[in-house]
Amino acid sequence: MKRYLIISFSSVFTLLTGYFVFQSQREVSLEEVFPGKIWVRPIENLPDLKGVGAPTARNCGNCHTEIYEEWKLSTHANALSDLQFQSELAKPSSPKWICLNCHIPIQNQRETIVTSLRGGNYFEPIEIPNPKFNADMKEEAITCATCHVRVDPNTKESYVIGGSGGTSPPHPIQINGEFLQNRCNDCHNETYTLNESLICAFQTGTELKLADSQKTCANCHMPEVKRSFVKPSLNRPNRNSHRHGFVGGGVPKSFAFYKDQVRLGYKPGIVLSKISINEESILLTIENQFASHHVTSGDPERFYRLILEGLNQKGEILYQEETKIGQEWEWSPNAKKISDNRIHGIGSFEWKIDLKERNPSIVRFRFQAIHVRLKNITSDYMQQTAEIVPLSFREKVRQIKDLYPHSSIVLESIFDRKGKERSDTKLEELFKRNAKRKGE
Ligand code: HEC
Ligand code: HEC
Ligand code: HEC
Ligand code: HEC
Ligand code: HEC
Repeated sequence: MKRYLIISFSSVFTLLTGYFVFQSQREVSLEEVFPGKIWVRPIENLPDLKGVGAPTARNCGNCHTEIYEEWKLSTHANALSDLQFQSELAKPSSPKWICLNCHIPIQNQRETIVTSLRGGNYFEPIEIPNPKFNADMKEEAITCATCHVRVDPNTKESYVIGGSGGTSPPHPIQINGEFLQNRCNDCHNETYTLNESLICAFQTGTELKLADSQKTCANCHMPEVKRSFVKPSLNRPNRNSHRHGFVGGGVPKSFAFYKDQVRLGYKPGIVLSKISINEESILLTIENQFASHHVTSGDPERFYRLILEGLNQKGEILYQEETKIGQEWEWSPNAKKISDNRIHGIGSFEWKIDLKERNPSIVRFRFQAIHVRLKNITSDYMQQTAEIVPLSFREKVRQIKDLYPHSSIVLESIFDRKGKERSDTKLEELFKRNAKRKGE
């Protein structure tokens, strides 16, 4: 009797253990773990494109020279080599395959294909080698084909998606402007809590809707320009084309890119629209006039530093005040938003500065707005943990302070004590200065 009990206990135990082992080893499909999420799979392997060859940006650039040159300067083209991305990707807490699905989103760009997740655990992707892997295309990150090339389900051939029509390219083309315009939201409008400390919080699309704007992302981030779509030797007419620099907050990925920001369409979202000064205080009104989403948008670490300085006759700084527009998050133990004073698409921000102890030698004030993409304390941390970053980026991460723009001055106004005589520094001038500034 006793023996019988022991046997039955142990067989239940074996069965249960077996069940748990089976569950934890079971291959669970990606869709089962992340239902309805577009970023759960990359775009399928794209076969060579008729008339072009491999669908790489470099090949597109053989004919679309100017568009290619613009795109090379964009954040999109540099989304893989980005030092901040490389440092974050290297953290043991990053489910790398998920990050890569938005930052290098085509299967041809990936050494392996993730087929399923062991036990449904996103830290245990089951991977097989990808025979179509293209190493050059990997480096191109958010490449032309991300938005423009897909496979025809009937013919299994690659084709280009265009927005204009009426052209006769040497490659297959289908016109679907709406698809191109809507593509942005697949990556720029995602809120998802993966676990207590890892969340995606990009809501630029939702913010745009909130402001009831009729504009699309491309209307502002891809300004129109009349030109031929291709190099002059192909003799095609000038048409309504779009800049492909995808300029955003005006903090590019390399100091060398500063000189092209304004040409590619950079404009601050905010303006200093009103200055009122009395004996006791200064009231500055900052309006979001040119971005119909929040300022700042996108990455929650971005923010604006607003600085007001009091200067004497010689231009020496006698007094300084500073405030911040942005979000405040706590990342550990749990990711949590603490505060958020961003300016909505149709909103404004009032900054009141008390002047009770004003130094009588102050003759003018200088106002600056600085868009910060990367804080000094964050890049300090990256330098300290550089040994986890792959060898090819490690030295660069150690020198991140010298190689990587953290912030840009995007507005500067100097005004007298009455707030009447005011001069605004030209954007071109500020960006010359930005190319030589370092840090936050
Ligand atoms: C051998 C030259 C060549 C290559 C390579 C090439 N294109 Fe084109 N493409 C053209 C020409 C020519 C046109 C038509 C221009 C015109 O008629 O104004 C065109 C038109 C287009 C259009 C606009 C079509 C429309 O009507 O809206 C898009 C989008 C496009 N190409 C994308 C690409 C992409 C993406 C690649 C790389 C995967 C690529 N092209 C590679 C020559 C080329
Ligand atoms: C849903 C798509 C998506 C996924 C998944 C994703 N990202 Fe991103 N990532 C974006 C977008 C969109 C931006 C641009 C936002 C911006 O520039 O403010 C971005 C920007 C970044 C930046 C640059 C921020 C800056 O201000 O320059 C880093 C670093 C980054 N992502 C790391 C990661 C890591 C690490 C993961 C995986 C844990 C990841 N991303 C997963 C879409 C994604
Ligand atoms: C496949 C995902 C994906 C798609 C689709 C996409 N983006 Fe991005 N975008 C990103 C990522 C990732 C970054 C940030 C990369 C980094 O910082 O390293 C980014 C950066 C940007 C930035 C730069 C922000 C800055 O301040 O530097 C702008 C602007 C932008 N995207 C606009 C667009 C627009 C407009 C579209 C649609 C036409 C679009 N994106 C489509 C993933 C995407
Ligand atoms: C993030 C998405 C995205 C990426 C990446 C991208 N494009 Fe575009 N492209 C667009 C959108 C949106 C349009 C405008 C469509 C319309 O007419 O409304 C466009 C338009 C075009 C056109 C038509 C002419 C014009 O300027 O409107 C060509 C040609 C083109 N792209 C080629 C390229 C090439 C080549 C690359 C890579 C070097 C590239 N694109 C990268 C989204 C993208
Ligand atoms: C009405 C014009 C306008 C529209 C529409 C627009 N943007 Fe912007 N966007 C801007 C301006 C201006 C900035 C620079 C804001 C600043 O830093 O002051 C900006 C900044 C950004 C940034 C960088 C983050 C930041 O705070 O600077 C990203 C990423 C971005 N936009 C993506 C998008 C996407 C995605 C869409 C569509 C869902 C979109 N934008 C629609 C004008 C626009």
